[in-house]
Order: sequence, then structure tokens, then C-alpha cells
Amino acid sequence: MKTTRTQVAIVGAGPAGLMLSHLLHRSGIESVVLDIRTHEEIATTIRAGILEAGSVRLLVDSGVSDRVLTEGDRHDGVVLRFDGDNHRIDFQDLVGESVWLYPQTEVFIDLADRRKTDGGDVRYGIRGTAVDMSGARPVVTFEEADGGPARLEADLVVGADGSRSICRHAFPQGARTEWFREYPFAWFGFLTEAPQSHPELIYARSEHGFALISQRTPAMQRMYFQCSPAERPEDWDDDRIWAEMRRRVNGNGFELREGPISSKMVLPFRSFVTAPMRHDRILLAGDAAHTVPPTGAKGLNLALADVRVLHEVLTEYFAGGGERALDHYTPRVLDRVWKAQHFSYWATTMLHGIEGASDFDIERQRAELALVTGSRHGAAFFAEGYTGWSRR
Ligand code: PHB
Repeated sequence: MKTTRTQVAIVGAGPAGLMLSHLLHRSGIESVVLDIRTHEEIATTIRAGILEAGSVRLLVDSGVSDRVLTEGDRHDGVVLRFDGDNHRIDFQDLVGESVWLYPQTEVFIDLADRRKTDGGDVRYGIRGTAVDMSGARPVVTFEEADGGPARLEADLVVGADGSRSICRHAFPQGARTEWFREYPFAWFGFLTEAPQSHPELIYARSEHGFALISQRTPAMQRMYFQCSPAERPEDWDDDRIWAEMRRRVNGNGFELREGPISSKMVLPFRSFVTAPMRHDRILLAGDAAHTVPPTGAKGLNLALADVRVLHEVLTEYFAGGGERALDHYTPRVLDRVWKAQHFSYWATTMLHGIEGASDFDIERQRAELALVTGSRHGAAFFAEGYTGWSRR
């Protein structure tokens, strides 16, 4: 069996795992990144598309790429649409911040390219990953993409391996607590080859349920509508999808620009947190430790925020800080995790149709939207959360 020795074994080559590997490399700390998915699979998995200013700064300032600035689109606001009217939340005016529309697939491509250029050891398409914490140092065993058995010995293991994390499950029974919430709906997402319907994103609440108009390029748009978790993409042809979108957003002078549809998918809604995010020599980052519903696009941003702190913690550890350095990780990230949990939950419940809602519930939801869009203080609270609480 081929054995490799490294300082940090990183399970998961999504943006969190690769960003950590990149930052560690810049600090002279070695890592090996493993993923059961191929490069191609990760690069073509459609995820959300909004980066907070802090995420953009991390990509640019750490030298990953400045493509986000040249090819991404700066958005200074979003629209909340309800009762047929658009209400713009002006991020620049309210909190002096912006977000960038730059799809997660592009973030992955930038990071994967940078790791490759820097000679990083990233192994895609491996199989059968298992984490063994019983020995003097952690060991990850797996099968290489070509089928050969392999063994990775490390000082520390980082689980950046997504919501179904195997690293999380390597924590012993009772070593962590879980908080969990399910929602009775999902999003139906699709791409369409059409011009932009609006210069900024539109989050729309209607009596037929929520819809989101997002973008990818001038000629390709990304949209979503609230649906049942049991919905099947193959039951929806283009006509049926557009009819559903139209009745949720068209009216009062606004009309969707339509085109051929591709990449249909149903996205489940879940809120999940586990803590502590470290046990012994395993540390979790991103979706492995917390999942948010997609309203507000916090998932990737939260993962990058974890990794920024984790990099500092690991640097301190390898500089001789020992266990005490690792102890700081969870308390330093958990505050933002719960803020993002609240924001994602709040934006979701404010904008979605809830089955069985009473007339009271519906009027209350309207009042909530009126408060958020009708006062500078309400709007600033939303703007601060959406852009990522960067001045705190
Ligand atoms: C997306 O463009 O895919 C997107 C944007 C904003 C969200 C969720 C998804 O809140």
C-alpha cells in the first residue's frame, strides 16, 4: 500500500477544502486534498452564485485569482418583490457594501487551477475514504482513482466533505451536539438561455409561493421557484415551468424574459449545525458542520469564513501552539454560523408560502416585508445580513 505523510489531510476538494489547502501552502504548511468526485463532477455541479465582499477579498488578496473582479458582476442591491411591487434594498446606501455574482463553479475552477499551478497534491475521483483516529496519528485510507490502495498519514484531518461528511461521523458518540430543522418545501432550480429579466436579483413572494430570479451571464439566467420536496424535474417541461414562474412574478409592468430551459433540479431545504466543530485531531469546515437553506446564498460564504479562521488556527498549531490553538476554532466561528443560520431561516420564512398558514400568518408575513422594505432600519438589517456583517 502506498503511504503518504503530510501535515493536514483535507477530505473534500470543494471550495472550502481547496481554499484551506491554498492558504496553508502560503504559510508553508503541507496538505493533501482528497475527493471522491472527479474534477469534472465538481466543476459542473451547479450551486449558488453570490459572494459576500469578504469572500471576494479572500479570493483576491490571497492570490487565488482576480477573475471574480473582471468576470463577476458587482451587485449593489437586491429586489424584494411582494404584492406585485418591487422594493429595492440598496446595500451601498444602507451599509456601504456590495456582493458579487460569481458562481461557485467558477470559484472552484479558480482554486483548482491555483492549487495545480502551485504543485498542490489534490486527488480527485478516489474511492472508499475511511478515517482512522485510533493510532498515534490520524490515518485516512482510500483507493486511488486508478484503483490502488493508499494510506495518508497526517497530524490533523480536516473534514470539508459536505453535508454527508464522513469526517463528522468519525467523531465518537456523544462528542458533539446537533441542531436540525426541516422545511416542508424545496426549490425547483433551472438555467435558461435568455436575456436578463432585471439588472439585480429578485426575491419574490406571491400567493402562489416564492420565486427567485438570479443570473449567470448576459445570455444565461438562473431561476428558482418554491415547490414540494417530492417534485420530480422530469415532470416539468419548459411550458409548465414558465407558466409557474409567470404567475409568481409577472404583473404591474414586470415581465420575465423567457428562453429554453436546462439543468433542472430540486434542492432540499435544511438548517443544520453541529458543534463543537473539532474533536481531538479532526476539524470540520463548511457544510460538513452546518447547512443552510439557499435563500440568501450563505452556504459558500460561511464555508470560506470557517476556512479563513481555520487557517489561522492551524498556523498557530504548527507554530507550537498545540491543542490550545485548536480549542479556539469552534468559539471563533460559531457566532457567524448561527447568525447565518438565523438570516437564512428568516429570509426563507419571510418569503415562502407556508402550507396551512392562517389569514393571521399571511398578514403578519406581509407586515414583516413592509417593515423590512419600508424603513431604513429594517432595510439595513437585511442589507447587513445579506452582505455578510462585514463591519462587525
Ligand atoms: C443563485 O444564483 O444560484 C442564487 C442566488 C441567490 C440565492 C440562491 C441562489 O439566494
